[in-house]
Amino acid sequence: MSHTTKEAETMTFEESPETVAQALQHALLGDDLPDSFTLLGREWDLHRGVFPGTLSAATEVMASTVPYPKGGSFLEVGCGTGVISVTAALHGCASVTALDINDKAVANTIANAERHGVADRVRVLHSDMYTALGPGDRFDTIFWNVPWTYVEDDFSLSTDLHTAVFDPGYQGQARYITGAPEHLADGGRLLLGTADLGDRERLDALADGAGMRCELLHRVRRIEEVRVMEYHILELHPK
Ligand SMILES: C[S@@+](CC[C@H](N)C(=O)[O-])C[C@H]1O[C@@H](n2cnc3c(N)ncnc32)[C@H](O)[C@@H]1O
Repeated sequence: MSHTTKEAETMTFEESPETVAQALQHALLGDDLPDSFTLLGREWDLHRGVFPGTLSAATEVMASTVPYPKGGSFLEVGCGTGVISVTAALHGCASVTALDINDKAVANTIANAERHGVADRVRVLHSDMYTALGPGDRFDTIFWNVPWTYVEDDFSLSTDLHTAVFDPGYQGQARYITGAPEHLADGGRLLLGTADLGDRERLDALADGAGMRCELLHRVRRIEEVRVMEYHILELHPK
């Protein structure tokens, strides 16, 4: 089957990093950006320099599809505006830890936890992956809506939004997978949100190297401006 036929079937187009970076310019610099947005029937604070939860359908799809551990503990890596962490708390997680490498995302998530009355059970940390966690911090579910765009190792992450969208050499996802077992409770679940624009082969190889395999838990298709995007929620299991 030719590549063209596959594109016609899925309406999916390859995007160059330059095209993605150009699209980010507006999300980062646009003077017309509002300071809040509406999603999942709620209003959310948006701080400048934080991945807006409406840039694609990813945040909404993942927030409404992730299997939250009711009554349990939930860790969200890369919380951005905090939509997923706050939704986890609203869906009955007893405790939520939200962390992000971007300090503006930390402030944004705190604002949204307060706005939606769950600040008492959402702890927000400024952290590069798991570094700010203690050895005793273990969770029933760990989740990351990853920056799925693969770029070469030497690609420059020049803005916070680049960090939200590009993962040079998939080093971030490698650290996410290899570091998770230290922070999973007994029987805990390691989940990862990605899309068909991500490099699934590379991700599978990373999981394999860590003695794990990826299972597709949910596939959600959305018609977006120029393509049908397919969002995937994966669960990583020990092999
Ligand atoms: C695709 S965005 C998702 C944001 C938010 N969870 C959402 O769904 O709207 C990825 C997030 O991961 C964060 N991130 C990237 N590398 C990280 C790292 N090494 N440690 C913590 N967070 C990171 C980015 O700053 C960004 O907020």
